[in-house]
Amino acid sequence: MFFFFILSTVFKPLFFCDNRFNYLIFAEIFYMDFGTEIERRRTFGIISHPDAGKTTLTEKLLLFGGAIQEAGAVKNNKIKKSATSDFMEIERQRGISVATSVLAFIYKDKKINILDTPGHKDFAEDTFRTLTAVDSVIVVIDVAKGVEEQTEKLVQVCRMRNIPMIVFINKLDREGKDAFDLLDEVEQKLGLSVTPLSFPIGMGYDFKGIYNIFEKNINLFSGNSKQNIEETIAFDDLESSELENIIGESAASELRDNLELVSGVYPTFNQEAYLKGEQQPVFFGSALNNFGVRELLDCFIQIAPSPRAKMAEERLVEASENDFSGFVFKIHANMDPKHRDRLAFIKVVSGTFERNKPYLHVRHDKKLKFSSPNAFFAEKKEIVDVSYPGDIVGLHDTGNFKIGDTLTSGEKLNYRGIPSFSPEHFRYINNADPMKAKQLNKGIDQLMDEGVAQLFTLELNGRKVIGTVGALQYEVIQYRLEHEYGAKCTYENFPVYKACWVDPEDESNEEFKEFKRIKQKFLAKDKRGQLVFLADSPFSLQMTQQKYPSVQLRFTSEKESN
Ligand code: G4P
Repeated sequence: MFFFFILSTVFKPLFFCDNRFNYLIFAEIFYMDFGTEIERRRTFGIISHPDAGKTTLTEKLLLFGGAIQEAGAVKNNKIKKSATSDFMEIERQRGISVATSVLAFIYKDKKINILDTPGHKDFAEDTFRTLTAVDSVIVVIDVAKGVEEQTEKLVQVCRMRNIPMIVFINKLDREGKDAFDLLDEVEQKLGLSVTPLSFPIGMGYDFKGIYNIFEKNINLFSGNSKQNIEETIAFDDLESSELENIIGESAASELRDNLELVSGVYPTFNQEAYLKGEQQPVFFGSALNNFGVRELLDCFIQIAPSPRAKMAEERLVEASENDFSGFVFKIHANMDPKHRDRLAFIKVVSGTFERNKPYLHVRHDKKLKFSSPNAFFAEKKEIVDVSYPGDIVGLHDTGNFKIGDTLTSGEKLNYRGIPSFSPEHFRYINNADPMKAKQLNKGIDQLMDEGVAQLFTLELNGRKVIGTVGALQYEVIQYRLEHEYGAKCTYENFPVYKACWVDPEDESNEEFKEFKRIKQKFLAKDKRGQLVFLADSPFSLQMTQQKYPSVQLRFTSEKESN
């Protein structure tokens, strides 16, 4: 091991300069100690309301990791397109990132896996599911807009799962809200308990830089949006008159006051609380200017968790267990239009996933072998022999997998915690070409397995209803059914306010029996066969809840997650 360490250290610069992918592969081969491999992994997601700067921040992080070389590429939109997957034609047509992709790189010996999530709100369900595979998240907030709707929803999901969160307040080069007001807003609207680890010196036109509370230094900002010159000055004695010389008199006194207020109002950073999801550190910066990003990344690799234990229905599974287990959190269809296969994204939870080794597909109770599992480096994917907890493996799939499926070395484990949320839109789906009924059913089935939308089958007449988070999904489904399955469909409005999962389904309960009889018209089964009540208005939902108090109506398909 020591020999390998020396070898990799000596050759690192060489590999690093020549070809970063070579280096990555080299590092992968030689750092073989299982415990070290787990410890050095950081698998996380970046979440935000669209336009807050998620793509820009992702790009800057990739730049730090040397995974891409092009600076300023977001400006001309080049990286923006490739930093997010655009495998599906419809995605290219619309310029919206429908997919969730994996971007991996190495930074200071840590293997960073960023699970990218679609920003478009119509694909929020995809993002929710990705959150089941991350060990922590970074929440990006626009300094001028503050907490926005999509951020609220996503953070709520993270809170439900106690996912450690770091908040990055972005666009400090622009005029925005007062830092304290913003921290208040984050606490109030997102229900977080924040502690700033950096604090801005000025803002917008007067933005001078940041005081890094975590590292105790001043990070001076000068430059413009094209070229940022960043100077870091170690500074732990804020009372020193040097501060005036560095940032000027009024900024110095304002900073002192602000930091006094910070230490008076906010708790000191506590890593344990952060890891439990009870405290959220906050950083300020400007992703576009690459300002405050290094600080964020450096702190992130120090405090963010390596792969966490995960709860299966049967037991808690530790990442350090020898036997492999993992679960499917995303299925990506037809990445290559010439080959009609799908790619199932598996998060490795425990043990190592090895190429050509048979693994148990628990739901099918069947052993499967994979000859070409993919790993992801930056924007590339390549065949990998061994993957460790925290890693994402892409498996070619001909229809074996559903979202939520578990693969193991042999143990019958079922990972839970990929809940469905109530869709926002509901429409009947009709077959528009009677000769293609089989194709239509197969298409609907497979698209639902991928989690593109939710299918509800009405109890009364067996009609199929498609529920989606955004109206755009209906066009995606129609397009894909036609181009991938040769089937045609039409939609018909079905006014539903919310889908609620019914619990418990207890036939011995008279109230439940009456509920079923009276509400028959509004009852359906979801894809897993669970009973769902489709309330047509907030009023009817409220009345139903009052009338049948022993029948619980839940807004997610699972009682509890994680
Ligand atoms: P998203 O993925 O969260 O949707 O946001 P994205 O990174 O695409 O950023 C949205 C817009 O905000 C982009 O401008 C981007 O350049 C800008 N932006 C990101 N970070 C900062 C920052 O720190 N300061 C300032 N001033 N702007 C920032 P755009 O004009 O919509 O797109 P583009 O033409 O620049 O790509």
